[in-house]
Amino acid sequence: MSTDSIQDYLDQHQERFMTELIEFLKIPSVSTAPEHAEDVQRCAEWVKSHLIGIGIDKVEVHPTPGHPIVYAEHCTQPDKPTVLLYGHYDVQPPEPLDEWVTPPFEPDVRDGKIFARGATDDKGQVFAHFKGLEALLKTTGELPVNVKIVLEGEEEVGSVNLENWINAHVDMLTCDSVVISDSSMFAPGLPSITYGLRGLMYCEVSVTGPGHDLHSGMYGGAVPNPINALATMIGKLTDESGKILVDGFYDNIEPLTEEERAQFASLPHTDEGFLKEVNGVGLHGEDGFTTLERIWARPTLDCNGIYGGFTGEGAKTVIPSKAHTKISCRLVPGQNSADIGKKMEAYLRKIAPDYVKVDFHLHHGGEPIVVNLDNPTVQAAQRALKQAWDKDAVAIRSGGSIPVVATFGDILNAPVVLIGLGLADDRLHSPNEKFDVTNFYHGITTSAYFYSELAK
Ligand code: BES
Ligand code: MN
Ligand code: MN
Repeated sequence: MSTDSIQDYLDQHQERFMTELIEFLKIPSVSTAPEHAEDVQRCAEWVKSHLIGIGIDKVEVHPTPGHPIVYAEHCTQPDKPTVLLYGHYDVQPPEPLDEWVTPPFEPDVRDGKIFARGATDDKGQVFAHFKGLEALLKTTGELPVNVKIVLEGEEEVGSVNLENWINAHVDMLTCDSVVISDSSMFAPGLPSITYGLRGLMYCEVSVTGPGHDLHSGMYGGAVPNPINALATMIGKLTDESGKILVDGFYDNIEPLTEEERAQFASLPHTDEGFLKEVNGVGLHGEDGFTTLERIWARPTLDCNGIYGGFTGEGAKTVIPSKAHTKISCRLVPGQNSADIGKKMEAYLRKIAPDYVKVDFHLHHGGEPIVVNLDNPTVQAAQRALKQAWDKDAVAIRSGGSIPVVATFGDILNAPVVLIGLGLADDRLHSPNEKFDVTNFYHGITTSAYFYSELAK
């Protein structure tokens, strides 16, 4: 397949591609919000009819105990490899709404970027593949390899039903490799292949003092305050040097090699630029590690939210009955999410004063991965990225988590290649999420070239 005819097709149709992406982004498929359950379902149906429309052979919506999985297949090349494209059509909640310049589900194109919830995570990246496949089908009448597509609607809530579904459909999902575009490039114009992702342990801790709220004058001073107790406990989770104090937390972690540290250090990163990206006052992390090492290859412990007591406007004098926090730990190879969950619970119970009650709830988890770059799938991706961006791809890791990557490796036993099309400043999970139009269009060519290169 000539790269010119792909580019021609893209040039002729790019406006329509953008119109279609806008339609996709308009559907508020917020997986965590029960009030959006119908929108999530509608989004799955939208994806199904879109895939049928571009000429994919078999397209199905599979119900699960949660949100549906869209499964599609176009396997017309018995002598060629089979690649499985994974992505997610669900999105994070858009709140806080008043910080959006334009509403999250009314996509707005300005300054060469499309702003909407899900623009880059993950609808825009997934849609680039749909258009890459369309370009191949329309210019050649066929796909150069066999393609299977799995799009889930629960990635943002921990992919809770996906593993069971994969296990129930192992034969159907047989493939030679897996491709995922749900991560970022290292810098604008610098194509990247992500070879490592961190795992995740997400839990919630509740501390109860008195059995009901109390007048803080009548009782204060003689009863425990659960917010104070929880704050003291949180203070004992880490120390000033950024070290995590949970017993056994660092057991079995594979240390970074000097080669890998040197490779990280060779990438075009500056702490000044990074600080600007987060719009912050200063950086803080574990002593003895660089910023890239901290976010890519070191485990973390962060409170994601804290609540309890009176948080309304003005003042109310009260000793609350309960206080809660939600905690995430990002994990690296050698760690396991279930094991870290147990260690976390044991440590919290150990440090809790005996005059409060502690409840511990594990939300979801995912395992860390580092993949081998030495395989034909990655080489096809490198050639495709080079053609699309006219630059050699760099190998990077990322601090985010995609739980299914480890699952695919374990169950399907196929190499996974992560071709991130987003940018670091895309504001995933934040107000004003965006996807650069350049990345969308280059993503489409990258995708079309990738499937063509895989056939070689
Ligand atoms: N696409 C992200 C993960 C990601 C972002 C990987 C940027 C690499 C670079 C994914 O949708 C996500 O947000 N994952 C969650 C985990 C999930 C279990 C909720 C995350 O990382 O917090
Ligand atoms: Mn994502
Ligand atoms: Mn996400």
